Amino acid sequence: MNTILIIGGAGYIGSHLVKYLSKKNYRLLIVDNLSSGYVDAVLAGEFFIGDLAEKQALTQLLSHYPIDAVMHFAAHIEVAESKVRPDKYYDNNVVRTLNLLDAMVAANVKRFIFSSTAAIFGEPQYVPIDEKHPQYPINPYGRSKLMVEQILRDYDEAFGLKSVCLRYFNAAGADPEGELGERHVPETHLIPLVLQTAAGRREFITIFGEDYDTPDGTCIRDYIHINDLCQAHELALQRLLSNQPSAVYNLGNGEGFSVRQVIDTARQVTGKTIPVQIGTRRAGDPARLVADSRLARQELGWQPQYPDLKSIIADAWRWEQRL
Ligand code: UFG
Repeated sequence: MNTILIIGGAGYIGSHLVKYLSKKNYRLLIVDNLSSGYVDAVLAGEFFIGDLAEKQALTQLLSHYPIDAVMHFAAHIEVAESKVRPDKYYDNNVVRTLNLLDAMVAANVKRFIFSSTAAIFGEPQYVPIDEKHPQYPINPYGRSKLMVEQILRDYDEAFGLKSVCLRYFNAAGADPEGELGERHVPETHLIPLVLQTAAGRREFITIFGEDYDTPDGTCIRDYIHINDLCQAHELALQRLLSNQPSAVYNLGNGEGFSVRQVIDTARQVTGKTIPVQIGTRRAGDPARLVADSRLARQELGWQPQYPDLKSIIADAWRWEQRL
């Protein structure tokens, strides 16, 4: 049985991954500093409170257990915050990730799966965006993730540390069994905010600009179900466990939905009116982000199971109604 160390396993994506992998044959060790995660979201595995700032403790953990691979979800993820607090983003997303990588090298653990993002591409030059698309991030968040991708290439060459970088487009939805979901504080993501409005916990949803060069004037995004991301992580893990080379993959459904389409679909799923207010553009929002994920399908055999927006929103809605 392979032992997998999951950093940030109490957060949104990490907690879903822990549940997903717990149904397969892995021993799971989870580390989280609980700065934005929840211990009750960790439904399986052995949990340790810990922080990537503690390099020595990390090295000890990595040396003590027979760890076959590490997955890293412990990042800050808010674009707007990264513009006013670049120090926080470079410290956590770069410096602390480097601590983790150095601890791995010291402990001779050589397989790493990294949560990257569509934000590394910046303003797209073409869509759908494939892996070769030029990478010019337009905010510290995107730059912090791109820096780690670059570091990983160097660590592979110098230390033989093999990695798979998974560049998520818009991670969304929730555990289809209703046990887990998105619990960001503050919440900034479109789908949970729309559903909180449907549930009556917010008065209205603000559309950030309707003057974009898109059919209905609102931004287009590629929403991908959290469990389909989990599937991709397991396939990436299998790739590394079978000692194949490092790789990077874009993960999305290849279909874009506008903010208005998301709100309309949420109205259908919930049966609620969902009041809307039109606001100004949010800084740093590209008009259109859609993934070309053919490489992940071809090389990993990735097959999304929940590609339609309705099922993504329906699962997120089940979670929003839990209270
Ligand atoms: N939006 C609104 N109103 C809101 C919230 C969002 O109109 O109240 C719009 C945004 O302007 C954007 C779309 O809804 O056009 C989606 O916004 P999200 O905040 O849900 O997601 P982003 O596309 O901004 O961000 C996602 C990830 C980030 C990542 C980014 C780029 O959450 O971590 O994609 O890849 F950096």
